[in-house]
Amino acid sequence: MKRSHQPGRIWLGGLAALVAIGWSGAAGAQDGEKLAAQLCSSCHGVHGKSESPMFPRLDAQVPNYLEAQLKGFRNHARGETDAQSFMWGIASQLDDKTITSLADYYAHQTAPAGASGDPALLARGKEIFEHGLPSEGVPACASCHGQHAEGQDTFPRLAGQHEAYLERQITHFRSGARGNAPVMSAVAHTLNDEQAKAVATFLQAQ
Ligand code: HEC
Ligand code: HEC
Repeated sequence: MKRSHQPGRIWLGGLAALVAIGWSGAAGAQDGEKLAAQLCSSCHGVHGKSESPMFPRLDAQVPNYLEAQLKGFRNHARGETDAQSFMWGIASQLDDKTITSLADYYAHQTAPAGASGDPALLARGKEIFEHGLPSEGVPACASCHGQHAEGQDTFPRLAGQHEAYLERQITHFRSGARGNAPVMSAVAHTLNDEQAKAVATFLQAQ
């Protein structure tokens, strides 16, 4: 797909993909690898290696987190506008077994390679990631997301994720738009834009 940041156009592309493969989802459990190639790859990239910051990378993401998010889209608990526009309809067609199979497939892809970034932002971001901002009550991100931001259990991998996607999510946690994540909302509510950008730049580089 040609890179485009116009959600409307991409969404139409996603719908066209659904029609092209005759996907209604009602057929019961489906094979995650196949569905990922036929459908999810049109936005999230081949093997989850998305090239557009509009779409989060899914490669090597923690399986429990992937399952929780897909269920969160399905039951509308994850409700920011992009989640509604892009993921609610798709997730409504996925049963539990298909979700587990998709999560297992993406979790087993190779981890993304880090990008480069502005040295001053990287240093500032590293500081926040490893030590938090004690004077502002922001805990170290590493304490939940892992020493290398590789994620664990229900804490997502953040390493190698698109900077702009990460920043957008921090904004959603802060405003409450991504309302089903009380722990992250508490972490994000005192992070300002400059701090969010620095830590996101650092994470994309891991
Ligand atoms: C038409 C484009 C499109 C298609 C097709 C699509 N997605 Fe998404 N997906 C998105 C967008 C956009 C987001 C980000 C939503 C946001 O910013 O809140 C997203 C978010 C996600 C997330 C959350 C990731 C995270 O880091 O929190 C998961 C998991 C996901 N999609 C899985 C899938 C799976 C599995 C499929 C195939 C069954 C799929 N998506 C198909 C557009 C798409
Ligand atoms: C106390 C544990 C904890 C700490 C500390 C923490 N997080 Fe999180 N974070 C979470 C959890 C849990 C989630 C998953 C939320 C959900 O289920 O939607 C998450 C999700 C995220 C996401 C969304 C990822 C995605 O793929 O959509 C971002 C971005 C994020 N955290 C950034 C940070 C940053 C930056 C810091 C440090 C300033 C941080 N987190 C500190 C627990 C934590």
